[in-house]
Amino acid sequence: MTGTAPRVLVVDDIAANRELLAGQLEQIGCQVELVCDGRSALRALELSRTDLVLLDVTMPGFSGLEVCRAIKSQPGTRLMPVVLVTARGELEDRVRGLNAGADDLLLKPVAISELEARVSSLLKAKLVRDRMDTAEQIVASLALALDARSPYTREHSSRVASLALTLGRAAGLEGLDLDDLYQGGLVHDIGKIGLPDRVLLDDGPLDGEMRALVRLHPVVGGEIIAPLKSARRLVPIVRHHHECYDGGGYPDGLAGYRIPLAARILAVCDAFDAMVSERPYRSALTISAAAERLAEGSGTQWDPALVRLFLADVVCSLGAAA
Ligand SMILES: [Fe+2]
Repeated sequence: MTGTAPRVLVVDDIAANRELLAGQLEQIGCQVELVCDGRSALRALELSRTDLVLLDVTMPGFSGLEVCRAIKSQPGTRLMPVVLVTARGELEDRVRGLNAGADDLLLKPVAISELEARVSSLLKAKLVRDRMDTAEQIVASLALALDARSPYTREHSSRVASLALTLGRAAGLEGLDLDDLYQGGLVHDIGKIGLPDRVLLDDGPLDGEMRALVRLHPVVGGEIIAPLKSARRLVPIVRHHHECYDGGGYPDGLAGYRIPLAARILAVCDAFDAMVSERPYRSALTISAAAERLAEGSGTQWDPALVRLFLADVVCSLGAAA
């Protein structure tokens, strides 16, 4: 191996096993950090650069499978290669390991040639991945490009993304669907990037031509994101965030459940945040007045089930915090 030595975190509750693996890894050019349990492993991943984790399956407290699941569920460590080390190599054990998100499995006692082959191939794959911009980073850059032009959009988009996360959880979304919803919230208005300042900065009132331009932003936003292969899931969220539940919205006039769930969630959060925000040409509504407006538009502009959840879960907690 060339360049900076890769750093491998070895997690095993038995000191002799840790030392044995450390010796083997050092022989193949790795730097090694040793920890004795799952909690220390998660802390080590937060504190120091790690390229790969070798994880004993059977440990007191958090098992290796639980630690693996925790690593693979966090956005910051989701792409970290994890190799489970186990004395049990039955089909059932291997399947359990893969289901926990492990990238590979090594059987004890570990042969150094096999360790080298597996570690090298996972590290090479990680190097390639590290050099690519992830969809999250590209999406964040797009959002920053719009924010640079419009301070209102910056604050609005991040508030909408946070509200959407809360409403999405209440609606039962999890995992990747929640990630998409959050990122969709951050970039839902990215299509406004080409609008003239007078429109973008929302100094209003807008004439008919300007209004027509604004109505294009969901389509333009979808087109901006579409070439990003790994962010393509965000396209329908961005394109449809101005559809109305009764079919009266734009750009496609979709109605009811034909509007993607994430776009229906964003529509509620987007409208609510706009209502409770101060704008140059009107003052902010109170939370209870905005809640009333949402209730009035339930079933026509917005999904009634989501409005109910939003009023019960999100608005109540905002009211309590206010
Ligand atoms: Fe919008």
